[in-house]
Amino acid sequence: MFLSNKVKQLQHLKILILDDNGSNVRILERMLQMAGYQQIHGMTDSREILHVYESYKPDLLLLDLSMPYMDGFEVMQLLRETIEEADYFPILIITAHSDQESRLRALELGARDFIGKPFNQSELLMRVGNLLELRQLYVELRKNNEELEQKVAEQTALWKETQMELVQRLGHVIEFRDEDTGFHIARMSHYSAALGRAAGLNEKAVELLLHASTLHDIGKIAIPDHILLKPGKLDPEEMEEMRAHALIGADMLKDSTTEMIQMAYTIALSHHEKWDGTGYPYGLKGEDIPLVARIVAVCDVYDALTSERPYKSAWSDEDALACILADSGKHFDPQLVEIFLRIFPEIQEIQRNYSTVEVVHQ
Ligand code: C2E
Ligand code: SIN
Ligand code: SIN
Ligand code: FE
Repeated sequence: MFLSNKVKQLQHLKILILDDNGSNVRILERMLQMAGYQQIHGMTDSREILHVYESYKPDLLLLDLSMPYMDGFEVMQLLRETIEEADYFPILIITAHSDQESRLRALELGARDFIGKPFNQSELLMRVGNLLELRQLYVELRKNNEELEQKVAEQTALWKETQMELVQRLGHVIEFRDEDTGFHIARMSHYSAALGRAAGLNEKAVELLLHASTLHDIGKIAIPDHILLKPGKLDPEEMEEMRAHALIGADMLKDSTTEMIQMAYTIALSHHEKWDGTGYPYGLKGEDIPLVARIVAVCDVYDALTSERPYKSAWSDEDALACILADSGKHFDPQLVEIFLRIFPEIQEIQRNYSTVEVVHQ
């Protein structure tokens, strides 16, 4: 049997025929089969259309207009409500005597073309071929778009992940110098995220805070070992030099266009400010201190107290919490201290999670 090139490319597409007249269905089936189409399904009961449409997933519908139970217009209306707006699903109307008005109505409802009875085989094949060709182009286009969207989404996610990992690794750089465990940054940032969430930050801000807070002490990179790693108390001069880490860190992070680094800048600059105005570098007071920095201040000190440092041993959780409570309204934002106390079980949970196993980047 001779197959035109066109049919060869389209013969795998699925054609559905719906006509209440069974002999019409058979004639059409035979004509299409003889032309080489391989997937043809005929039906006569229009009430089954949705069921068949969903299970058979046709690429083209040959549809009769006048039928019992549900006529062709109702079928089109129903399909229109079912099929996605953007989906190109061609419908070829089978009509015996078509007046202008019903043609217009059919076109409005989504019909693409018409074929008259009695059927002329070459006309039928031409019209079916044209619609299937369009359908195939549409399907390919949709597939390409989906692949493209998928790729863009993957790239974006990968890029974001890379950025976050770099930021975290940068945060850890400082830990390699001033302590052994490597968990301070992880605990601190998770405490901060938990406290931020409980204080009413939205999820996006919480995520930014989780990452941005890892850089709070980045300025310590510039502090010499004999100060940073000094086993005992710092003298006033050394303390002065140590305090410069806030401004140095801010300088390293300033003028960023990304929200996360902007937040990291704010935190690095202001995490040693105190609620009563006695902190550094600027002696800001109360709500003049950015909220994220007030959050990090509580979490940083809690973790410093409960950790061993070259200059101090670790305090118990209870002693550390008591110290935070005693400094409420002095060092710390009293409202945040209250919230910290309320979520203390969650804080301790984080403390446990980031104390015995290796830091896992997430
Ligand atoms: P860090 O060890 O990460 O401590 C962060 C903050 O936690 C300190 O900020 C302080 O507010 C609080 N903190 C830490 N340990 C204690 C403590 O034993 N008692 C009380 N009440 N608070 C504590 P601060 O004071 O501005 O210090 C900033 C950084 O300077 C510290 O970061 C640490 O790296 C260094 N540092 C501070 N004091 C000493 C010291 O006496 N000896 C040495 N070697 N380093 C110090
Ligand atoms: C870390 O440095 O691992 C804590 C930050 C995070 O897990 O996002
Ligand atoms: C807030 O300001 O959003 C509440 C937490 C605080 O800053 O005390
Ligand atoms: Fe600091």
